[in-house]
Amino acid sequence: MKKKFKGISSTAIHSSNLNNANNAHLTPIYATSTFTFETTQDGMERFASVDKENIYSRWGNPTFKAAEETISALEAFGLKDDKGNDLQLKALLHSSGQAAMATMFLSCVQSGDTILSHYSLYGGTYELMHKVLHDTGVKIELVDMRNVQAVESAFASNTNIKLVHIETPANPTIQCVDIEAVANIGKKHGAIVTVDNTFATPYLQQPFKYNVDYVFHSTTKFLNGHGTAIGGVLVGKDINQMKTKVWKWHALLGGNANPFDAFLLINGMKTLEVRMKQHCSNAMQLAEYLNHHQGIEKVNYNGLSSHPDYSISQKQMTHPGPMMSIELKGGLQAGISFLNALQMCVRAVSLGTVDTLVSHPASMTHVSVPKEERLKFGITDGLIRISVGIENIEDIIADFEQALEVVN
Ligand SMILES: Cc1ncc(COP(=O)(O)O)c(C=O)c1O
Repeated sequence: MKKKFKGISSTAIHSSNLNNANNAHLTPIYATSTFTFETTQDGMERFASVDKENIYSRWGNPTFKAAEETISALEAFGLKDDKGNDLQLKALLHSSGQAAMATMFLSCVQSGDTILSHYSLYGGTYELMHKVLHDTGVKIELVDMRNVQAVESAFASNTNIKLVHIETPANPTIQCVDIEAVANIGKKHGAIVTVDNTFATPYLQQPFKYNVDYVFHSTTKFLNGHGTAIGGVLVGKDINQMKTKVWKWHALLGGNANPFDAFLLINGMKTLEVRMKQHCSNAMQLAEYLNHHQGIEKVNYNGLSSHPDYSISQKQMTHPGPMMSIELKGGLQAGISFLNALQMCVRAVSLGTVDTLVSHPASMTHVSVPKEERLKFGITDGLIRISVGIENIEDIIADFEQALEVVN
């Protein structure tokens, strides 16, 4: 019997059905590749079971299971299924967000199928689509999904669209796609609908409220929260499919998590709500400060009414979240100098850690992308991406203020 809680923190802390022989308070790190059988009969029964529990750690492990149960409970928190019962979900923990994404796409599409997605995507997703899936015969079509008519037109002109993939808010312009509207179009045409919920976390956005089949996360980010491990999770609402077809791809591709990283994730998730509250409140204050700064051309933050996707984010998120980007007036050199001038905030890619992480895509993540290409995705020379941390907001603003003075 699954426990039911009134709040999301209790859900994050108490959702896994922790059974362990030594009454350990915290989930133990089951650092074991294989599990023993009491008898041959016991082994036969475990192999015959659809759950394939406690056989071999590439197939599953009790530490992974605790993390999986917690994430399923968070994504399902307060939601009902079509029959009005509490929504049940099944999660599979992976070694990275990319591994979770690979299981998801490969178990859903095959040669000749098309994946339809938004043109602003995480770089690894874009590359997985264009450099790996493309070579297997899967076609990729990218449109501006903020325009639902473009989604309808894509279906009208391509009958092979098998899967619609939504990433919202998206990297690095924080564009938002209307999950409900796009998922409804996808379902009307019989497509599988998937959402990358990494930037928002289930605390801010629950895609399973809508017509969505799979949600995945890079757990490396806000779910872990401390930057201690790479990880990913794939969550689905067709439990049988998750335990059979999807599990087969997961186990045979071999992108399983490891018990130590799962342990770090379990403990990180316990503070998700308190961390997210502080991340979000800091982000709003920082965005308002930066929005009035003379040296800044533009603040891309979906919590500002000037952001083109402000109303979509208000509709589907409980808060606009901790991610933003800014465009400095001085272009490439200003971007480089700004990052160099930071004294507390950290120069690093990735996101979702307790400290504020700042990166300059034009000189870092997108340095090998031709300028004309990256401009199409809104990555201008002076664009700075910020994952706002949970430090005291006075210190974050003071650091930005002094770094902007150096640049201007
Ligand atoms: C939105 C998004 N999706 C997926 C990934 C891939 O996750 P990982 O690096 O854990 O493989 C990332 C990583 O930055 C991301 O930001």
